[in-house]
Amino acid sequence: MPVVRGKTIEPLFTAEVIAERNLSLAQEIMRGPTDDLLVISVLKGSFIFAADLIRALHHAGLAPEVEFITLSSYGTGTVSRGVKIIKDIDSDVKDRDVLLIDDILESGRTLRFAKELMYERGARNVTIAVLLDKTEKRQVDLVADYVGFECPDHFVVGYGMDVAYAFRELPFVGVVTGDA
Ligand code: IMP
Ligand code: MG
Repeated sequence: MPVVRGKTIEPLFTAEVIAERNLSLAQEIMRGPTDDLLVISVLKGSFIFAADLIRALHHAGLAPEVEFITLSSYGTGTVSRGVKIIKDIDSDVKDRDVLLIDDILESGRTLRFAKELMYERGARNVTIAVLLDKTEKRQVDLVADYVGFECPDHFVVGYGMDVAYAFRELPFVGVVTGDA
């Protein structure tokens, strides 16, 4: 098992499996709404997935514009939790098809906020692509249009995802299982 920073990491989704899935996700996305497509990567965790997925979109024949938004959740509990914009996109989304890309869909708060925000700004269609879906952790009503993999209820790292800014560089998605 890989050892990084003195921790053993059990791979859940290998680089090869992810690469293959990205190609098929791009095919699915191509069959959805892609008119004047604006892809928005939801930072930070999605940066590697987005980098690979947009190249898979090119491979599938799409030529989107690409933007970034940094969102952060705040508060605890179920009532007082919210999402705020740390850094907004610069582009106008009015009458455009928008594809939001994120790493993990968990409670659903982050992506519901982003989706509603883009509709409020006049986007025509807002679809969501996530690498991982933790369906059983959902707390708001939200379904992703494109899902890489159903994710077991573990805290995962790698492929852009972190614990305290670490492990993002791993080419695979894994679970920290203990000290090596
Ligand atoms: P939610 O859907 O609003 O609860 O937030 C999902 C966000 O939480 C993701 O975009 C990640 O940034 C973060 N997150 C959730 N689960 C994990 C995990 O297992 N590893 C790393 N980040 C996670
Ligand atoms: Mg995130």
